[in-house]
Amino acid sequence: MALPPTHPLVDGRTQSSPLIRAFRGERPETLPVWFMRQAGRSLPEYRALRTDVAMLDACLDPALASEITLQPVRRHGVDAGILFSDIVVPVRLGGVGVEIAPGRGPVLEHPIRSASDVAALRPIDPDVFSPIREAVALTVAELGSTPLIGFAGAPFTVAAYLVEGGPSKDHLRARTLMHSDPHTWAALMNWAADAAGEFLRAQVEAGASAVQLFDSWAGSLGVDDYVRRVAPHSRRALDHLRGLDVPTVHFGVGAGDLLAAMRGVGADVIGVDWRMPLSEANRRLGGSTPLQGNIDPALLAAPWPVLEAHVREVVDSGRAAPAHVVNLGHGVPPDTDPDTLTRLVELVHSLPR
Ligand code: CP3
Repeated sequence: MALPPTHPLVDGRTQSSPLIRAFRGERPETLPVWFMRQAGRSLPEYRALRTDVAMLDACLDPALASEITLQPVRRHGVDAGILFSDIVVPVRLGGVGVEIAPGRGPVLEHPIRSASDVAALRPIDPDVFSPIREAVALTVAELGSTPLIGFAGAPFTVAAYLVEGGPSKDHLRARTLMHSDPHTWAALMNWAADAAGEFLRAQVEAGASAVQLFDSWAGSLGVDDYVRRVAPHSRRALDHLRGLDVPTVHFGVGAGDLLAAMRGVGADVIGVDWRMPLSEANRRLGGSTPLQGNIDPALLAAPWPVLEAHVREVVDSGRAAPAHVVNLGHGVPPDTDPDTLTRLVELVHSLPR
């Protein structure tokens, strides 16, 4: 199925926005900028709405999720909204007991580690995503020519939470399972890929103009494990978008050695964390891939002249690439002064392309 005629990419609303043009490899008049985790705790208006609603309940309330998505667009004038949701939303909708513990992250009722745990996972039913479709539809109706980005957690990052049962530093149990029981690993990764893929598909069909696959923990893998035991499943997630002509971004943290393999999964744009200059990422990718990133989130708390000099450096380094969407190298830290983000958007928009 192709995109519906009323989709923002098809009816003319977002097709020539700076974000979409840059994702397609062009250099629009102004450099587009948005921030990973722009919708969230750095905003007082977000904290006010979230006082007595659990994180995942907020994600599954279409009006609330839509309002939280729009807050940073109104306040900062960023070039995109990103749907307020979480990488474990499709896990919950797929019937697995998971909560997000404040200050900690996703926590599973029962970790999924054995062959029988994996066999008990139910196939993903696309109908469970109706609250997500509704949130996206409400949001794009307000956004006009500003594109909405949909997202999902890549299978490895989601599977790491499923196997560990919660946040972990080195994802040791996940990496053990990958080698000690490759069949169970592959079955779990396929389930996570289908959950992510249908989550992405629901967002795109309902009006998202681009998507990003977050493989936040891919940096704990060596290239061989990534290529053999992870990349095919990430490709399977993106395969759910087949026939839908939307730009895709693939982002990992600490994944400098994996950049080419991540591009090989099939994404159009590569997101780069703060560790590697964009010019070096561009060199590793052969000079043909639009890049997104990679302001060091730590510098959001530095004096403005320090941050400004860094942003100018990032933009200069990004000129090596065919196209550049400015972003952070990872999410907005919760204690960031929102006015710093607004000022940063103004600065990026004032820079020569
Ligand atoms: O603005 C946006 O970027 C959109 C919303 C978004 C959230 N999570 C909202 C959220 C996105 C894109 C995510 C993705 C996500 N979630 C990732 C991948 C990106 C990354 O940061 O690496 C991961 C690994 C998760 C899992 C997760 N969810 C963690 C580790 C946490 C932090 C727990 C905490 O409280 O510190 C969450 C919770 C979460 N997801 C919050 C938000 C706004 C904070 C919860 C709250 O506000 O109470």
